[in-house]
Amino acid sequence: MLQIKENINLKAFNTFGIEVYCDYFVEINSEEDFQDLVKNEIYKSQEKLIIGGGSNLLFTKDFKGIVIKNNLKGITIVKENENEALLKASAGEVWHEFVLYCIDKNYAGIENLSLIPGCVGASPMQNIGAYGVEIKEVFEQLEAFNMESGELKKFNKKECEFGYRESVFKHKFRNKFFISSVTFKLKKQAAVNTSYGAINTELQAMNIVSPGIKDVSRAVINIRQSKLPDPKVTGNAGSFFKNPEVSNNKYNELKNQFENIVAYPLENGNYKLAAGWMIEQSGLKGQEYNGAAVHTKQALVLINKNNAKGKDVFELSTHVIKRVQDKFGVTLEREVNII
Ligand code: FAD
Ligand code: EPU
Repeated sequence: MLQIKENINLKAFNTFGIEVYCDYFVEINSEEDFQDLVKNEIYKSQEKLIIGGGSNLLFTKDFKGIVIKNNLKGITIVKENENEALLKASAGEVWHEFVLYCIDKNYAGIENLSLIPGCVGASPMQNIGAYGVEIKEVFEQLEAFNMESGELKKFNKKECEFGYRESVFKHKFRNKFFISSVTFKLKKQAAVNTSYGAINTELQAMNIVSPGIKDVSRAVINIRQSKLPDPKVTGNAGSFFKNPEVSNNKYNELKNQFENIVAYPLENGNYKLAAGWMIEQSGLKGQEYNGAAVHTKQALVLINKNNAKGKDVFELSTHVIKRVQDKFGVTLEREVNII
């Protein structure tokens, strides 16, 4: 039975742990709930915000509208042969639990994405990625309800327009579709991906010579736990900025000036710069502002160190952008969704 609550504190629903209120709040536990919701007069008249785990959001003020929390659960094996399996996961499944489920069943492809917070439904939103893998590589299709009509639509990979931390749902279709499930194509003959240098170093430290997907997952978890803050302890939303892409010319110019600059060549001839390195080199590691801070172990992450407000975190991010711009002539773009 659909229950629309009023004036709800969102502190427990965002991993930054920011205390803000929304006018209305509703949890969707079944497809019927969503169909009831689209007919509801309060819903129709309000601005809408979908949330999963709230791990990629920064609330800078109270939300004057309705927050829709996706709780749809369930994992189905749609199809399976000796090489591959198609798995459909409902949007409210916790991402890391889904990863562990797949590892346990020996379905390979998302083990490098272990321990990313949040829910399955948000994973296509910014094409989550880590340690050499992005979900677009294992994505088959998703289903989403039109937020106005309630009609269910399927999106294939092309229609999602995936890019680095990008998809059509972050722009044209933001809050236009309520993603209800995502189907992934996973491999049964595991070929592990250890292309990201830190994984090999960690596997060596773990004394593992021929790793399986469980080992890769463990290595990724170890690396993440060594530098990323646990949101249960310290409020954050992971990387606050994207790693910027620059032209070959700009990269060479920077390389002449900063010989240790960390950058990765891209197929299009451009370079992706490690924003965390630039923030650190700008002298900002550990910098604090009204309870918000630049994380000391990973400067790309901003944290809620001591009861910060969303606007404090945002203002700190503006300061970071300015300092990096002044030193490197590169403009950082926020990765986190600012509400
Ligand atoms: P939310 O924060 O709830 O929502 C994010 C956005 O998606 C919002 O705009 C929301 O409106 C929209 N949305 C959510 N659910 C739906 C839905 N069902 N339908 C339509 N729109 C929806 N990200 C990475 O890519 N790689 C990382 O390595 C990584 N590491 C992280 C580490 C930490 C410690 C933290 C806190 C975050 C990290 N993140 C990382 C960011 C975050 O975990 C991911 O972006 C994750 O997919 C967000 O999921 P969520 O359910 O919490 O989304
Ligand atoms: N670095 C520094 N100082 C710092 C931070 C990083 O010098 O304070 C250097 C590192 O030494 C390394 C390089 O920058 O040489 C890259 O650092 P890291 O491997 O930690 O990855 P990242 O580029 O900072 C990206 C993603 C992460 C993802 C990791 C692993 C983005 C915006 N961030 O971070 O995603 O987990 O790679 O693949 O692309 C997220 O999106 O929330 C997130 C955590």
